[in-house]
Amino acid sequence: MPVVSTKEILQDAFARRYGVGAFNIVNDVSLDAVVAAAEELRAPLIVQTSVKTVKAAGLDELYALFRASAERASVPMALHLDHCPDRAVLSACLKRGWNSVLFDGSSLPSVEENKRQTIEVVAEARTYGAHVEGEIEGIKGVEDGIGSDAESDIYSLETAVDFVRSTGVDVFAPAIGNAHGVYKSAPVLNAQRVSDIVAKVSLPMCLHGGTGLSAAQFDDLIARGCAKVNISTALKIAFMSANKDFFQEKPNSTDPPSLLKFVRERVKQMAVEHIRAFHSDGKAA
Ligand code: 13P
Repeated sequence: MPVVSTKEILQDAFARRYGVGAFNIVNDVSLDAVVAAAEELRAPLIVQTSVKTVKAAGLDELYALFRASAERASVPMALHLDHCPDRAVLSACLKRGWNSVLFDGSSLPSVEENKRQTIEVVAEARTYGAHVEGEIEGIKGVEDGIGSDAESDIYSLETAVDFVRSTGVDVFAPAIGNAHGVYKSAPVLNAQRVSDIVAKVSLPMCLHGGTGLSAAQFDDLIARGCAKVNISTALKIAFMSANKDFFQEKPNSTDPPSLLKFVRERVKQMAVEHIRAFHSDGKAA
């Protein structure tokens, strides 16, 4: 199946109120795992890469893995660059063929400056037929070296709506009490903020910090317009714990393929559970 644009994938999800899992893969094994889950459940999929993964795995190598995988797959897939404050990395990914990028201007000195640069990123993305996610508030928590554990300023509804309208972003990521990483206590989310923004701009929202949210929270936020749901920490936990469990069971194993198969299966199971929770199963055209 050819690669499908992030916008097209999210428009359908937004219109029919289901969530598309955007999984932060870390290598070929985790990519294979999330694609296998999406195929088994007939779900559209967003493959997401952090800047750290792009640098660690190599931009060309990562892109080639994605393309090979998408060509074999029978469900719509798009490749997205997660939180990227670095314009050079962002441009390189767009040029190489990433379908969308999150320009993270949340730590710029002002929303005005964020807006100015996001407008430039949107114009650049359009030259490649690519799409842009924007944010004005830092989503709490450090993920792959980006972000902060400090509480971010939360801007007014007018500021958020003005940002979306004047930049032309395709997806918006509001801070609603969500956080990257493992929640230390049950998160209290400002779901109404999603509805308020969607009522004004009618665009898909991105729910960050998906790891650890309850099924009821997913249902509620997806119904309000969170068509893109980001999952990173759950993938990392599945990946790492699978490695530990494998060696606990077989401490003397010298067979890498059996380890890789075991890890892939556990990451796939994690993705299956999330895809079901987002109700994107059966939604692939
Ligand atoms: P988690 O690490 O909490 O799953 O959040 C992922 C995310 O929002 C990536 O941007």
